Amino acid sequence: MTSVIIAGVGSYAPQRILTNEDLTKIVDTSDEWIRSRSGIRERHIAAADEATSDLAIKAAQSALLDAKITAADIDLLIVATCTPDYPVPSTACVVQHKIGIPPHATCFDISAACTGFLYAMEIAYGQLLTGRYKCALIIGAEKLSSIVDWKDRTTCVLFGDGAGAAVLKKVNQPGVGIIGSDLGADGELLELLYIPAGGSRCPASPLTLEAGSHFLHMKGKEVFKNAIKVMETVAREMVEQHHLTFDQISLVIPHQANYRIIEALASNLGVPLDRFYVNLDRYGNTSAASIPLALDEARRAGRIKPGDYTLLVAFGAGLTYGSTLIRW
Ligand code: COA
Repeated sequence: MTSVIIAGVGSYAPQRILTNEDLTKIVDTSDEWIRSRSGIRERHIAAADEATSDLAIKAAQSALLDAKITAADIDLLIVATCTPDYPVPSTACVVQHKIGIPPHATCFDISAACTGFLYAMEIAYGQLLTGRYKCALIIGAEKLSSIVDWKDRTTCVLFGDGAGAAVLKKVNQPGVGIIGSDLGADGELLELLYIPAGGSRCPASPLTLEAGSHFLHMKGKEVFKNAIKVMETVAREMVEQHHLTFDQISLVIPHQANYRIIEALASNLGVPLDRFYVNLDRYGNTSAASIPLALDEARRAGRIKPGDYTLLVAFGAGLTYGSTLIRW
């Protein structure tokens, strides 16, 4: 019996920290409003010359080190991002070249917004089990500061930049690593969170630029309600499918979007909040980077021990959503 395990994790956040107080100088907001509505205190913002791949590479190097392997061992690279370096080609190709992953490796990006890391993990899991790949590197990386409208106080206060990565490999041991995954999407709700222009439906033009259509547009209240609903459903299903109870889940690592969403999720599931890992106060919402960043921190903080069950649960633009159960 074989399993796919997480052999190493790593993360990186840019050096510059933007506090809520700093934001009050940019838009009409307050530390009190941001903290009470979202739980966010500060976020990391990439430098002008730092692209998503630069963040991804630092997280990847840290994960490779943790897994005690080198880039030469990787034959599958997946980068989950909604802020690629270029529209064409993939950010994965930039990472592959700069980090020294051999040219015979399969390298591509996936677009599943904040659920991207769980989507990447599911794809890598399946590919490793086929036996066609030996070692996968999956990365969630975002420079969201490049797509938020810094004049729109309803969105710009919520997001940050960062990256997280994991090395996955197959082992001949049953019942460890990725135990299950349940992913979904509801495209009917895509306009709750999207960038209207810059793609093939509405290519870039002076008019789209003037209208600010290249920035992230969000209906916050609807996203909020849907997030709690879908995360509760996929978290519950994942635990029940594997004949477990939430008492057996040592740590839940939810997508780090809003503390109130996490509070509501914990309350609906009947799980104490101290079994949820939360770091959004220091990073804000980093989309596809949010779960691997939290996973890396949680592991390094000793919150994950051999034999533990960890539940990852996410939602994001699409709307996409998913949960992944891991046994260490
Ligand atoms: N500072 C001060 N006031 C702000 C503000 C800000 N940064 N942003 C919005 N406001 C104002 C609004 O204009 C509104 O004023 P009004 O009542 O005069 O119209 C008021 O605050 C309340 O706004 P509201 O939208 O009702 O707040 P909320 O309690 O729903 O919280 C969010 C807003 C965005 C924090 C919340 O809806 C949310 O987190 N949604 C989910 C977003 C998310 O997670 N997105 C990513 C998904 S991956």
